[in-house]
Amino acid sequence: MKRSRWGVPLALVSAALLAASPVGGEAAELAEYDKAASEVATTLIRQFGEAMRREMAKGGPTEVVKVCADLAPELAGRLSREYGWRVTRVGTRVRNPLLGMPDAWEQQVLATFAERAAKGENLMGMTHSEIVTEPNGRYYRFMKPIVVQPHCLVCHGSTEQIPEEVKAMLDTHYPFDRATGYQAGELRGAVSIKRPLGAER
Ligand code: HEC
Repeated sequence: MKRSRWGVPLALVSAALLAASPVGGEAAELAEYDKAASEVATTLIRQFGEAMRREMAKGGPTEVVKVCADLAPELAGRLSREYGWRVTRVGTRVRNPLLGMPDAWEQQVLATFAERAAKGENLMGMTHSEIVTEPNGRYYRFMKPIVVQPHCLVCHGSTEQIPEEVKAMLDTHYPFDRATGYQAGELRGAVSIKRPLGAER
């Protein structure tokens, strides 16, 4: 255990400091991480949106599919490696269970996003963050909603909105697809960030 100048274990010093600040050291800690996490989530959503518009202008939905299927996980993977955090995209209903399935914490946060939206709050500005303790350490967790845009509907909308060629592709590659039937403006999922924190703080 690291020790302070006076030989008192640092963990005790910081515990005392935490207790001394009624606003909570955790609130300050969260604020510090929120800024960085927001930036990463916004970068992912922006890069994804730009690629989507670029490919839409070039080709039809069968071309654009690679933006959602390949580029989005690739961008998330790149950010994960660069920052050392787990950066992922999860869905309220899922097309690819391997990458898109929310865990218990993420499911709860998605539900609160939907509740907050139902009460009139704008999904675009929403975020949620928390520090959680798991058996193998502390984590900072953050989520930011992904909202359905009109151009998402060719692949995530109703049966009438999805062209036959896209349906055929989805049937072949995603026989258990649940990520259809969305409407523009609805909550599609979230960017989810999980950042390991040092055990000793
Ligand atoms: C051309 C078809 C297409 C379009 C357009 C499209 N998507 Fe997707 N989307 C997919 C496919 C295919 C997957 C499965 C990706 C995979 O295999 O990981 C997917 C997966 C997702 C996921 C991950 C969760 C899951 O269900 O697996 C999210 C979130 C998502 N899309 C959001 C959007 C949003 C938001 C838009 C519009 C801005 C959009 N998509 C537009 C085809 C599309």
